[in-house]
Amino acid sequence: MLSACTNHLLTQPMWLLLFSSLGFISFLKTSTLLLNWVYATFLRPKKDLKDYGSWAVITGATDGIGKAFAHQLAQKGLNLILVSRNPNKLKTVSSEILAEHPGTKIKTVVFDFSSKVSTRTIQGVMEKAVEGLNVGLLINNVGITYPAARFFHEVDEKVWMDIVRVNLEGTSRVTRAVLPGMIQRKRGAIVNIGSGASSVMPSHPLFTIYAATKAYVDQLSRCLYVEYKRYGIHVQCQQTERSRQCELSPRHELADSGCQHRTVSVV
Ligand SMILES: NC(=O)c1ccc[n+]([C@@H]2O[C@H](COP(=O)([O-])OP(=O)(O)OC[C@H]3O[C@@H](n4cnc5c(N)ncnc54)[C@H](OP(=O)(O)O)[C@@H]3O)[C@@H](O)[C@H]2O)c1
Repeated sequence: MLSACTNHLLTQPMWLLLFSSLGFISFLKTSTLLLNWVYATFLRPKKDLKDYGSWAVITGATDGIGKAFAHQLAQKGLNLILVSRNPNKLKTVSSEILAEHPGTKIKTVVFDFSSKVSTRTIQGVMEKAVEGLNVGLLINNVGITYPAARFFHEVDEKVWMDIVRVNLEGTSRVTRAVLPGMIQRKRGAIVNIGSGASSVMPSHPLFTIYAATKAYVDQLSRCLYVEYKRYGIHVQCQQTERSRQCELSPRHELADSGCQHRTVSVV
């Protein structure tokens, strides 16, 4: 049977064999991707997030996606460090979480990432906040965009600089503050909230600076993933799109959050 097949193939022209081989390789590649997706979506066992450490840091934790993360992580038994600008909102969110999950320990950090005070300050503030705590999870969620669509040359200097400070510098500096502890413990997970504006869409006109900062977050995540996987630290970038609420799915709480995203690396 095998020799009959081989003989038949040997009678075929070279160009046909070449094209058939390319088609077969392409089929194998697509099938592998599909099987991987089926495994990741339906079969992969749940992770116990506490294996990364008992504390989670969430920036921009008083609204939207950050707030949803805070509730879900408290439900999973993690203690929280919530970072945001408004102390009253931080108090309210903490009370809500404590009412639902009374055993949760919560620390709050009030910081305005867009403040003109050197953004280096947030690094120091966060280093202090995480000192002595077993922080296993960092959710770099804080992010802002334009109040309304604008052509690039019309964007107000303050809006521009605020976006760069919050989305780009804030994310980098909080990561820089939290990483050394993770490296020491040889475990941790960093989830950066990107945006479909920089990846799903081929371009995102009229929100150019926002989209560009999110492309930074995407590439930052990819590079950190490669740099730190040897320390047992996982990094992923979730590319969300137009969601107001982002609930974590029960099975793949970090890799698949229920909102649209592209996972750079799977935790
Ligand atoms: N929602 C979407 O449709 C969507 C789509 C794509 C990507 N994203 C990304 O997802 C992330 C969260 O978006 P979201 O819509 O959930 O946000 P949101 O509802 O607007 O909430 C923003 C959070 O960030 C905090 N924050 C804003 N400016 C801050 C500053 N200067 N300093 C400190 N904290 C600040 C707010 O705290 P205060 O209340 O204290 O101000 C609030 O907790 C962002 O990175 C965003 O770019 C969202």
